[in-house]
Amino acid sequence: MKLQGKTAVVTGAGSGMGKAIALLFAQEGAKVVAADINQAGVDAVVAEIREKGGEATAAAVNVSRKDDVEAMIRTAADTYGSLDVLVNNAGVMDNFTPVGDVSDELWERLIGINLTGPFLACRAAINIMKDQPGGGVIVNNASVGGLFGTRGGAAYIASKHGLVGLTKNIAATYGREGGNIRANAIAPGGVNTNIQSTITAPHPLGAAALADAGPGKIADPMEIARVALFLASDDSSFVNGDVIKADGGWTAR
Ligand SMILES: NC(=O)c1ccc[n+]([C@@H]2O[C@H](COP(=O)([O-])OP(=O)(O)OC[C@H]3O[C@@H](n4cnc5c(N)ncnc54)[C@H](O)[C@@H]3O)[C@@H](O)[C@H]2O)c1
Repeated sequence: MKLQGKTAVVTGAGSGMGKAIALLFAQEGAKVVAADINQAGVDAVVAEIREKGGEATAAAVNVSRKDDVEAMIRTAADTYGSLDVLVNNAGVMDNFTPVGDVSDELWERLIGINLTGPFLACRAAINIMKDQPGGGVIVNNASVGGLFGTRGGAAYIASKHGLVGLTKNIAATYGREGGNIRANAIAPGGVNTNIQSTITAPHPLGAAALADAGPGKIADPMEIARVALFLASDDSSFVNGDVIKADGGWTAR
């Protein structure tokens, strides 16, 4: 088992990729804090992990709120005695809204959940991990929209580029000399999750830019969870500050 004895916090664990990551990490021996704003979602995931003999705790968290995030990180450390892996996965989309039509509220919501949330969690986690002999590992679920200018609206693309930058800064600062903390990001292409149901009114300009990128294959969430497992485990011990694209070749053309 690749995460035996490790404690992992996974945000957005009530659905989609976060759910797959929580289930896979528990199967690989991790004690999982499954965090989500959707309490019923994480309760179901925790029940499934326990039924299979794993260990997990649910945390109802709005990742854009500092108090919630700090309590989530404390829950992991207090319940299981360490915090070894943090997966910042919770995220929302923005109907592909181009900058001219982005409202203040939309911008603040996207940056709050997709970027401030991971920042708050990384800050709290690093201040535990850096004092642990084994350090820690951070996996940030970005997007191909963290590397390219389409695949989301202005706020989504900016938030995911910001998340990639945060990842690299952590890797460069807290690597072997700075606390033995590794940080990497995943850049998935299209994945079959509940996020599609939030694309209620795609903006025509943003949708046209996405169409220009051409069609891509759609992954099963577990295909991304396996990338997260690689990055969370010692299999990737010399990978730090990287962004792994998992997009079925979408951006290779
Ligand atoms: N599905 C895709 O095609 C795709 C592609 C690339 C990247 N991503 C990214 O993957 C991540 C996971 O998304 P998914 O596709 O599994 O979607 P999903 O909607 O199935 O899951 C996202 C989860 O995040 C939770 N969440 C939303 N706001 C939250 C908040 N404020 N606090 C805590 N939890 C919150 C939701 O309740 C949900 O359970 C997101 O960051 C998304 O941007 C998705």
